[in-house]
Amino acid sequence: MTRRYSRITGTGSCLPPRRVTNEELVAELATRGIETSNQWIVERTGIHARHFAAPEVTTSDLAVPAAQAALQAAGLRATDIDLIIVATSTPDMVFPATAAIVQHKLGIAGCPVFDLQAVCSGFVYALTVADAMIKAGNATRALVIGAEVFSRILDFNDRTTCVLFGDGAGAVVLEGSDTPGILATDLHADGKHVGILCVPGTVAGGQVLGDPLLKMNGQAVFKLAVSVLDQAARTVLDKAGKTESQIDWLIPHQANIRIMQGTARKLNLPLERMVVTVHDHGNTSAASIPLALDHGVRSGRVKPGQTVLLEGVGGGFTWGAVLLDL
Ligand code: ACO
Repeated sequence: MTRRYSRITGTGSCLPPRRVTNEELVAELATRGIETSNQWIVERTGIHARHFAAPEVTTSDLAVPAAQAALQAAGLRATDIDLIIVATSTPDMVFPATAAIVQHKLGIAGCPVFDLQAVCSGFVYALTVADAMIKAGNATRALVIGAEVFSRILDFNDRTTCVLFGDGAGAVVLEGSDTPGILATDLHADGKHVGILCVPGTVAGGQVLGDPLLKMNGQAVFKLAVSVLDQAARTVLDKAGKTESQIDWLIPHQANIRIMQGTARKLNLPLERMVVTVHDHGNTSAASIPLALDHGVRSGRVKPGQTVLLEGVGGGFTWGAVLLDL
């Protein structure tokens, strides 16, 4: 039966056990002759630590426990799921989709599965697509996952990027509902900015062509991020007929505490109403929003009935927002 709305009924997350503090990373980079410091990283980004997956651990290995935790929170079994979307830029393979691998590891078959590539905006893109598919009657209970092993594409000889990112996964169950749910969504992209944040390499003729490691113009990303996030936030509030003061929680992409604080300030939101995990997770790209959402929910701060604004921004350049009632 087609439902008018979709709503999140369970959240889950998974971090690889190896937690690397700034001090440890600084010491490791020093052995390569790369100079950085805990003070620089904390002052510029707010990051104190990140989690790195062991070499044999894949994106699907992190996605599956996150999905299982979300299923348990929703009181569902994997067999209840009829759609899986995995937002990732670090898939297990070139193809098939990591979502297919996740489906099989969850012990189910038959439902549609696909990956969605919008880098750090991946989760808000995936949630928007799942919401539309549920409202169109093409799914009733979706697993929407953001999962990354971003450490695999970091250049540990580039101090301007390798200190910023981490690995992890977050997931939600999104179910058809007669009550909202997702109130409004807003997605954007501008491909003219491809070069400011990219992994320019590709696979061809059995070889990696070009550079397979992350490149970023941090200042260009910073400036663009703050301005576009404010626009997306205002658009979803307008669409839902709500005002800034009705937002209980801002859960932005966790890239840099200064970008996040800038976004909260523009929305006149006290910083206490923003879920922050960047200090402990670093930037986990598509995983960062569902990871932060799950941490907020499991800590008891983010509660059913509250209004939550999710905001993503990343390579592409892509950006977007989702406003929802939990
Ligand atoms: N340790 C010590 N010094 C460093 C480091 C480091 N790890 N990295 C850079 N520096 C130096 C630079 O070389 C530069 O030195 P110089 O003045 O002698 O040339 C100085 O620090 C300042 O560098 P800036 O790039 O100007 O530093 P900035 O204040 O802009 O901070 C940062 C850099 C943290 C990357 C910031 O620009 C930022 O957060 N940008 C947004 C990044 C982001 O959000 N990316 C994720 C987007 S989401 C996605 O899709 C993946």
